[in-house]
Amino acid sequence: MSTDELRALQLERLQWTLRHAYTGVPFYRERFDAAGVHPDDCRELSDLARFPMTSKADLRDNYPFGMFAVPREQVARVHASSGTTGRPTVVGYTARDIETWATVMARSIRAAGGRPGQILHNAYGYGLFTGGLGAHYGAEKLGCTVVPVSGGMTPRQVQLIQDFGPQIIMLTPSYLLTIIDEFERQGIDPRSSSLKVGILGAEPWTEQMRAEIEGRMGIHAVDIYGLSEVMGPGVSQECVETKDGLHVWEDHFLPEVVDPLDGTPLADGEEGELLFTSLTKEALPIIRYRTRDLTRLLPGTARPAMRRMQKITGRSDDMIILRGVNLFPTQIEEIVLRAPGLAPHFQLVLSTRGRMDALTVRVESRADTPADRHGPAAAEIVRGVKETIGVSVECEIVPPATLERSVGKLQRLKDLRQAR
Ligand code: DLL
Repeated sequence: MSTDELRALQLERLQWTLRHAYTGVPFYRERFDAAGVHPDDCRELSDLARFPMTSKADLRDNYPFGMFAVPREQVARVHASSGTTGRPTVVGYTARDIETWATVMARSIRAAGGRPGQILHNAYGYGLFTGGLGAHYGAEKLGCTVVPVSGGMTPRQVQLIQDFGPQIIMLTPSYLLTIIDEFERQGIDPRSSSLKVGILGAEPWTEQMRAEIEGRMGIHAVDIYGLSEVMGPGVSQECVETKDGLHVWEDHFLPEVVDPLDGTPLADGEEGELLFTSLTKEALPIIRYRTRDLTRLLPGTARPAMRRMQKITGRSDDMIILRGVNLFPTQIEEIVLRAPGLAPHFQLVLSTRGRMDALTVRVESRADTPADRHGPAAAEIVRGVKETIGVSVECEIVPPATLERSVGKLQRLKDLRQAR
């Protein structure tokens, strides 16, 4: 499809989505009316900026089924976010939505290097989380043999990989690190496995983490992105031949980037908060959803008509403000993974010292690193953070295999600050 053809298709689908949301969901009708806009006002793609944005709080307020645009009987499946704080957010899919989702996921696996006939080990969690079933349906649609392992029971993951010989593995990057460690613990070289490609997402990860995983496992590690409110995994996907950011499947999801503070639209290339509008979803059309993820839009490369989004730097909610300086866990990851003698396992601990906040970077040493290297390694982390981020932190080196391991999305930050 040429860019012109894609834009024409997007406009037609956007107009349908706005009308569908307005007629099917009281929440959207009230919001549009209050903002003085009507679906008929959307004559070109740029008119979308006149419509109000939607946030996670809006989904919570309409818990559980208030955002559905079709009668509940037509909803074939629901998923929900974990809801660590307050009510979870619930999303729904018609049978056709599930078909669309399988299509974009199949496309993602194909772009990552997967092919029909291959064996795919799926270690994303099955259940209310969209990762497991989303990947599962896409892999079946592409024509793979799916092994629906889900997350956890790490020794068994290694055994199944050894016994079944999959070419593709899907899971979070932090869980893949846990599995790589388990291979080594069992005395098996992870590079000797049958795996060729890891399709890794659901949490932010860096180029340094890619190098660590590719080096230790001898696979291609590519990034997959998505979120339940927009669909689930398969909203955008990195192509294995370029590994240069994630192509957004723009025929189904329209991206925008806005200023996170005031919501002003930003031009392609500028960094800000990512917004998505669904273009084909029936059960839960979503208009200008505020993802809180920070990135920029770039021109297409391996798939020229589809724009890319740069690897996510972090979520605005994950940003730590340490004595007035903003920092993201991914920035610390870059520094920790560059330091020799340290394992790629670290945790960030925020605490209160008097009236000030303090951040301690806890990093595991590698088993073969002599104890007299710990001091210099910690000093290197402290210096690296000061030089690149401009704030003082402390670093504590802990023995190998002592920090909590991930089996899914990893929570890096431990906030021990007392409420003030
Ligand atoms: O995490 C869907 C998913 C499953 C994506 C499996 C990829 C693979 P939620 O639980 O709703 O959905 O969480 C969505 O996770 O807004 C981002 O903050 C983060 N996220 C997802 N993929 C990436 C990624 C799934 N590749 C939230 N890089 C999103 C960075 C990611 N962050």
